[in-house]
Amino acid sequence: MTEAELYSMYKGVYVPKVLHTPEGLKYYEEFNFRQDDILIVTYPKSGTTWMQEIVPLIQSEGDLTPVETIPNWDRVPWLEEHRANVLNLDERPSPRIFATHYHYHMMPDSFFKVKPKVLYVLRHPKDVFTSSFHYYGMASFLVNPGTVDEFLDTFLNGKVMFGSWFDHVNGWIHAKDQEHILYLFYEEMIMDLKESVRKLSCFMGKSLSQDIIEKIADHCVFKNMKKNKMSNYSMVSTEFFDQTKSEFLRKGTAGDWKNTLTATQSDHFDTVYKEKMKDVKFKFFWD
Ligand code: A3P
Repeated sequence: MTEAELYSMYKGVYVPKVLHTPEGLKYYEEFNFRQDDILIVTYPKSGTTWMQEIVPLIQSEGDLTPVETIPNWDRVPWLEEHRANVLNLDERPSPRIFATHYHYHMMPDSFFKVKPKVLYVLRHPKDVFTSSFHYYGMASFLVNPGTVDEFLDTFLNGKVMFGSWFDHVNGWIHAKDQEHILYLFYEEMIMDLKESVRKLSCFMGKSLSQDIIEKIADHCVFKNMKKNKMSNYSMVSTEFFDQTKSEFLRKGTAGDWKNTLTATQSDHFDTVYKEKMKDVKFKFFWD
């Protein structure tokens, strides 16, 4: 199926029609944040599901009940998806935890007034590309990626859901009032998950013992988290996600792009990256 059939355009970027209904978007635009809300913000395939596991565990101080009993999409709902509408989010106790894939300029009015806590996770764009390539091949609500060359074109031109990686990252790293935003890299979580859990818990105002930090990190390493049926999307129908083609929790590594991109494709990626990021001063993990 084509972009026109599967996506609609919202504030200049493609969003999947099936998840982003007009009613859902109205709810999103009128959403009222609380200052102590925690909002996980990611470009897709940057570690959202991972954060939907870690952050509730920090909040519960290592009690596994929330992650073992509530599917991740209800545990940490996407504000922009139509399901947010039916979850009575106003009745949730503080601090509430949400996720969004939206760009900075797409945030609702209340976000800019209230300034809730934001956890923005970045991942190397070549790995985001690689993870997306597999994901687009298994998710029925997305346009088939075609060949690596074809998808490279689509991805680098931002003709994918939630638009260009470059625009998403540039918007969020240049956000105003950065004291309510924590920037975190997927790669640093891979390198030292305990340290990332500690950093996150400090930002969330939670003082956790070393034992609890270790318990959370142990539960959230790829091989353990992959077994959690509340988080590995095994409960979702194969018509939506065909995990026989590619698992949602696929490899969970940094640098897998080297198994996907040829030297020519990688050089082309670098050229586009340099051009799009030439004026950016932000220090990336991979610089
Ligand atoms: P890969 O496809 O490279 O394996 P998102 O949740 O934003 O859609 O991102 C999905 C990517 O995060 C997938 O990458 C997935 O395997 C990876 N991921 C999820 N949980 C992880 C974990 N516990 N450790 C490392 N990577 C994880």
